Amino acid sequence: SESGCLSIIVLGASGDLAKKKTFPALFHLFQQGFLQSGEVHIFGYARSNLSDDGLRERIRGYLKGASDEHLSQFLQLVKYVSGSYDSGEGFELLNKAISEYETSKNNESGSYRRLFYLALPPSVYPSVCKMIRSYCMNPSSHTGWTRVIVEKPFGKDLDSAEELSAELGQLFEEEQLYRIDHYLGKELVQNLLVLRFANRLFLPLWNRDNIANVQIVFKEDFGTDGRGGYFDQYGIIRDIIQNHLLQVFCLVAMEKPVSLKPEHIRDEKVKVLQSVEPIKHEEVVIGQYDGYKDDPTVPDDSNTPTYASVVLRVHNERWEGVPFILKAGKALNSRKAEIRVQFKDAPGDIFRCKKQGRNEFVIRLQPSEAMYMKLTVKKPGLEMATEQSELDLSYGLRYNDVKIPEAYERLILDTIRGDQQHFVRRDELRAAWEIFTPLLHDIDGGKLKSVPYKPGTRGPQEADELNKRMGYVQTHGYIWVAPTLS
Ligand code: BG6
Repeated sequence: SESGCLSIIVLGASGDLAKKKTFPALFHLFQQGFLQSGEVHIFGYARSNLSDDGLRERIRGYLKGASDEHLSQFLQLVKYVSGSYDSGEGFELLNKAISEYETSKNNESGSYRRLFYLALPPSVYPSVCKMIRSYCMNPSSHTGWTRVIVEKPFGKDLDSAEELSAELGQLFEEEQLYRIDHYLGKELVQNLLVLRFANRLFLPLWNRDNIANVQIVFKEDFGTDGRGGYFDQYGIIRDIIQNHLLQVFCLVAMEKPVSLKPEHIRDEKVKVLQSVEPIKHEEVVIGQYDGYKDDPTVPDDSNTPTYASVVLRVHNERWEGVPFILKAGKALNSRKAEIRVQFKDAPGDIFRCKKQGRNEFVIRLQPSEAMYMKLTVKKPGLEMATEQSELDLSYGLRYNDVKIPEAYERLILDTIRGDQQHFVRRDELRAAWEIFTPLLHDIDGGKLKSVPYKPGTRGPQEADELNKRMGYVQTHGYIWVAPTLS
């Protein structure tokens, strides 16, 4: 059922997410020949009263790197339907538009495929899904499918997330629901499985006998810029850690899946999440940058963290005693996301002259995708001295002729192909909320206070102290610099 008429319906078509992520991703897929003109139609749906051309004008500016001809070919595939998110009329119109397009196609052999992308606030998910279910499903006389992509936040805590899951679960089968976490579409996140399970080198090292601690870090060098009102209801743990960083954590910490089948992989992710111990307050630092509350939409007494460092401990044979430090912050000194695996000291060191730096294996997710292993080497020259260096696999150099696809591009293609491997399953979501809900309730209830930090810095000093307490040893005088083509 992977050929035939394909209708992609973007709900919330005039919103930010649709303009910045969804339409550009669809356009890239079109450019690469994955969406064929004769086969695909794209419908934008939103409340604003717009014409087809009105929508096209709105998204045109976000579609970069294209010839005019290509661009107008793509835009011709885009139609607009306006309507509300909770009344039948709009969705009836939408269904009519889709059906008209479907019947205009000579589609004898193929099937009919309808992909709904909810680029909407989750508060309207239940009503929109009800409307899709009542008015817009692929008719049962057709072969093919109806699938729905939803975006986080999926609730605010365990109970609200479960409620949302139950509501959607009454309308759609789990096989029809694609919960996007765009971190799962990033090249180096997708590489984790290969790296860990296809390399003999890593297999015997990846455990508590050799690894001292693991950090999963997300930093942004800008604040909540204009999203303060939205952000203040969620905070950095719900915005980044509970989803993006926790997904990365799963792939770093989980056991080897039985096979590459999506269900086997997701079974292992659930298992490792269920092995995480309750988070201890003394292993958490939360912070808020100075100036955050200047945003008029943020309440003056907000305790919402824009920075958090949270230690997770996995209660199993592989990881007992190894802290996983998940750290995320806005308005910091740099923008990057990386995984840093620090190994224990080499025992019986004979190079006593100077304390050796520890081996670290770093996976740089963005920017400048890279993997590098920090090593101690003989300092080149006549002296017998040691220094820190690295084995470096920088993607920009090694794969300089490959264009790394955008996360959203890949994930939309997976949805069309029916591959749920890189999407969050319902029980996985539940397990993720179980880990963070008690902590989030304590923060919301003021039992933990955000400490202030200056924008443009490393964040609260308390977080560096927490790292130290967790046994992280910083190597001074060594900085990795992304190599460039000369
Ligand atoms: C989003 C968060 O999910 O991820 C944003 O809501 C954040 O706050 C963004 O800026 C980061 O994504 P990326 O791909 O730029 O790392």
